[in-house]
Amino acid sequence: MRARQSGAAGRAMVRAMLAILAFLGPSALAAQASDAQRQCSPDGRLCFALETVEGDATYRIERDGADVIAPSRLGFMLRGAGKWQHGMQLGDAVTRSHDETWQQPWGERRLVDDRYNEIRVPIIETRKTKRRIDLVARVFDGGVGFRFEFPEQPQLGDVMIDEELTEFAIAGQAEAWWIPGGEWNRYEYLYRHTPASEVGTAHTPITFRRADGLHIAIHEAALEDYSGYWLERLEGERFRTRLAPSSQPWKVRRTAPFNTPWRTVLIAADAPGLYAAADIILDLNESNRLGDVSWVKPQKYVGIWWAMHLDKWSWNAGPRHGATTQHALDYIDFAAKHGFSSVLFEGWNEGWWSESGRNFKFATPYPDFDIERVTAHARTKGVEIMGHHETAGNAGLYERSLEEALAYYAKHGIHSVKTGYVADAGGVLREDPDGTEQWEWHDGQYMARHHVLVAKRAAKHRIVVNAHEPIKDTGMRRTYPNMMTREGARGTEYMAWGDPPNPPSHEPTLLFTRMLSGPLDYTPGIVSLAGRDGRLLPNTLARQLALYVVLYSPLQMAADLPENYGKAPDALAFIEQVPVDWEQTRVLAGEIGEYAVVARQRRGGSDWWLGGVTDGERREVTLDLAFLPAGKRYTAEIWRDGPGGGIEGDRFAMVREKRAVRGGDALTLAMEAGGGFAVSLRPAR
Ligand code: NOJ
Ligand code: CA
Repeated sequence: MRARQSGAAGRAMVRAMLAILAFLGPSALAAQASDAQRQCSPDGRLCFALETVEGDATYRIERDGADVIAPSRLGFMLRGAGKWQHGMQLGDAVTRSHDETWQQPWGERRLVDDRYNEIRVPIIETRKTKRRIDLVARVFDGGVGFRFEFPEQPQLGDVMIDEELTEFAIAGQAEAWWIPGGEWNRYEYLYRHTPASEVGTAHTPITFRRADGLHIAIHEAALEDYSGYWLERLEGERFRTRLAPSSQPWKVRRTAPFNTPWRTVLIAADAPGLYAAADIILDLNESNRLGDVSWVKPQKYVGIWWAMHLDKWSWNAGPRHGATTQHALDYIDFAAKHGFSSVLFEGWNEGWWSESGRNFKFATPYPDFDIERVTAHARTKGVEIMGHHETAGNAGLYERSLEEALAYYAKHGIHSVKTGYVADAGGVLREDPDGTEQWEWHDGQYMARHHVLVAKRAAKHRIVVNAHEPIKDTGMRRTYPNMMTREGARGTEYMAWGDPPNPPSHEPTLLFTRMLSGPLDYTPGIVSLAGRDGRLLPNTLARQLALYVVLYSPLQMAADLPENYGKAPDALAFIEQVPVDWEQTRVLAGEIGEYAVVARQRRGGSDWWLGGVTDGERREVTLDLAFLPAGKRYTAEIWRDGPGGGIEGDRFAMVREKRAVRGGDALTLAMEAGGGFAVSLRPAR
């Protein structure tokens, strides 16, 4: 209650306290029993507090006066300079407030609120070295972001960080949904659901649900020139950052002044609230640095991709080569006929598959892929080609070839590129200037910089990027809007050959974990419901449609073979129509790993689209159409699991029907086991 009623009065009190503390100065602070500095969210419910405990800088996060993050220590292991953690005092705090609504060029919502109260506190060693690092925390209604700023100072110039020692002590017992960090398969794992006290080392975002229902997700924002961190459990529910390694003895090397990425803690009463709070990740990134980005266009695409994952065709040249001129012409015709904007061709260039990508040529098509003819045909059909740069993890060779590779595509009118870094974690190859080979991590500092470099160079050629085997998303699309989408999850390729394939609990887990970080190129739309050698997808047909709404991507693939779409006209009709750019988004209902229902309004339109997915349980959901103007008449077109459907029944059973509804109505829909639904809501004429 205390924090809830505090609002403006609470803020005024905090400000007054801070003014007194500032007046007393650091030496007086040290003499106090507690030197706590606090800042609370605009609604007063969340507070971030920083104090020294036995000389260690320690923070906590409270909600309604109770700990969400219990006292957690901060610090760094600095190469050649020892630990920066003990014997600290806090300097004068500076606070400020920010309240702005900014517009995304494309996204899950057009307008994003950026409203927080900030506190900046210098943390200074009391010993002779007096090294100072500032902590800046922004407290939003939906969570907290904090980062360290290394000011320029003689005793801390060339900074080599061996480890960051930021702790997150989850207050109370909780369950966790997580994938392992630092393991060979990067981010391509099924989520584990364990007590928080049984997490090992996890990637972020990691999501917790406390026994009292509070949802907490830990991640980071604006990872631009630093190493990504894994969350390592120390004991009980206490975690600490573990930075992804580099080829060098240190993990991060920077010259002061510089900032770490923001460490983020999203906090919400329920799973839908957690998804809504994720805007904070974008808010914490800097605004667009690319200027005019009207050329960055959300779109749907098709491609020869699934044929290769089915092992029908191959990436390599040979008798089953996928990227042949004839296949390309056929796919372009299919795209044009059904209104898809682009066609992706993988395996079009020389070098497949070379160990560590050493033979890839990024501007040399295979002889049976006539790029001039293919792009000319695409032009006549009003379709674009989506390029592909697989590197097999040889990011060094890709950087050396980058200008040539991008210019080659630009010359052929290609404005989007899917990149790929297939290599075990820690197996990214680069070379020192003297040619010495070095091995890096997909989420280390080198790759953080690499992805920014690719985005910046691609932007010069008006090319957008869809990265596979990427570094995790940390909202950098705000700064570089051509960093449109990425993989970084166990995607639909595992439905072709994965053992096991993605179970129906996967996507309702992704929505409240991986999707908190940003768009996902999941490549849905497998209407044949069959993978390699006829293995069955544990999904219904209606569910494959729902994924277009549930899992956001501004580049959204219709991944199945054209001949399979030919056999599923009702499903294809949905995929043709569903938008890829949204005015607003609401998660209407959901529980992690169980089910999720998402509603999105078309960007600039008055039609809404719903997607629902369930796990292996049959569920009925009653949706409150209160997001539509009260009483306004809509036609709901529904694609839902039909009678006898579900993964234990007829997975193809699907009903396509129309119903008249009004804003404010309740709409009840059933999802069979492993099923789902998709709905369009258009104003009735
Ligand atoms: C793995 C990617 O995730 C997949 O989409 C792609 O087809 C292959 N690598 C080949 O680049
Ligand atoms: Ca992959």
